[in-house]
Amino acid sequence: MILNPSALPLVQGHAMTTASPDDSVSAPVIKTASTQTYAPASTHEIKIRAKDVNVFYGDKQALFDVNIDIPGKSVTAFIGPSGCGKSTFLRCINRMNDTIPTAKVSGAIEIDGNDVNLKSVDPVILRSRVGMVFQKPNPFPKTIFENVAYGPRIHGLASGKAELEAIVESSLKKAGLWNEVADRLHQPGTGLSGGQQQRLVIARAIAVGPEVILMDEPCSALDPIATARIEELIDELRNQFCIVIVTHSMAQAARVSQKTAFFHLGKLVESGSTEDMFTNPRDSRTQDYITGRFG
Ligand SMILES: Nc1ncnc2c1ncn2[C@@H]1O[C@H](COP(=O)(O)OP(=O)(O)O)[C@@H](O)[C@H]1O
Ligand SMILES: [Mg+2]
Repeated sequence: MILNPSALPLVQGHAMTTASPDDSVSAPVIKTASTQTYAPASTHEIKIRAKDVNVFYGDKQALFDVNIDIPGKSVTAFIGPSGCGKSTFLRCINRMNDTIPTAKVSGAIEIDGNDVNLKSVDPVILRSRVGMVFQKPNPFPKTIFENVAYGPRIHGLASGKAELEAIVESSLKKAGLWNEVADRLHQPGTGLSGGQQQRLVIARAIAVGPEVILMDEPCSALDPIATARIEELIDELRNQFCIVIVTHSMAQAARVSQKTAFFHLGKLVESGSTEDMFTNPRDSRTQDYITGRFG
């Protein structure tokens, strides 16, 4: 196992990387449930490592000794019945649980070998490196341009107007939204369709040069066409980012992820290559879940 030695520590004051001006993305791959194919298991090095993570809300324990390695440049899916702790674990990765007063997290979450829970880590910088996309698209009540420009501006990533415009354009292109909004950048982001809003939020996350993008059921509020567009986008983005997606759809996990982790009652039951998890699960609870016996 190799940890990336070139990783920036997560402490405040470090230079931020800007979004790359290279807009190239791979050819879209739309896979449907009826023609199920599995991407080969990821061979990428470990980006995120969780060690003995426990989370409590007050006295109630929500996660028990979670250990997992998450590869970079790859999609990892978290599946499991409602309430099993998927969102709780996702929030450990960018310290969003810090914002819940009753939440207590123990154990370590390392990104490139650096524990995100250290006091020296600034959560604001962490969250620009580890972006998050939620179930319900949440654009700011601002223009499309301003939604994407906001992060680069507050993090001082652009030296002038032209550079800021280039970051906005590049981010919207990477999020697959540019062609649909190029002529309406100064209209409200909230005027877009749900699927477009979700891609706008993804562009907003991309604009601050993240390494990891966390997605918590990003398609739950979308229709099948918008869902297919987001899945296609996720497949393109994994060339550049470590993506972790929570999904209640096993078909979606099978379509978009290379690694899958199954949670049950706060425990990580098993994780492995998506194909192995769906075709040859080791644990009977995984078997029961993926065959629809509970959930
Ligand atoms: N903010 C919170 N305060 C108290 N309990 C919570 C909070 N968020 C989640 N929980 C509890 O933690 C457990 C795991 O929840 P969650 O991580 O949301 O599961 P999932 O995303 O798998 O549906 C559940 O029992 C849930 O009720
Ligand atoms: Mg959840």
